[in-house]
Amino acid sequence: MTDTQTIATMIEAHAGSEGPLLPILHDVQRALGCVSPASEGQIAAALNLSRAEVHGVVSFYHDFREEADPRPCVELCRAEACQARGVEAIVARAEAAAGNRVRVASVYCLGLCSVGPAARVGDQLHARLDAAALAKVIENA
Ligand code: FES
Repeated sequence: MTDTQTIATMIEAHAGSEGPLLPILHDVQRALGCVSPASEGQIAAALNLSRAEVHGVVSFYHDFREEADPRPCVELCRAEACQARGVEAIVARAEAAAGNRVRVASVYCLGLCSVGPAARVGDQLHARLDAAALAKVIENA
């Protein structure tokens, strides 16, 4: 199945639903690893939106990427509560542990504010991270 056919299937799956843009974008991101400019155009045409409107949503949310990145991703919370619990002091060591093999992405709240610093890898959440624990999470990603 081509990317165009995959996207068409996803658009069809959300046909008639209210506010289908975000669910379609999430499906495309999950299936193809990105929402490319070509995908934006196809989605825009199907939803009767301008490509600029779709691109505005894609570029606003950090979850969406324009190019696929096959590296594992560790999402590290850098919002206020995790900052107060010391996340900024362990970022540099996390990035050193990640090197080019793992992508460390900043996110802003994982719902673990009282037990931060927190990180997520896929569906797994990690809390109470110090530099060594975070390096281990990155190593296992
Ligand atoms: S601020 Fe980090 S989990 Fe909420």
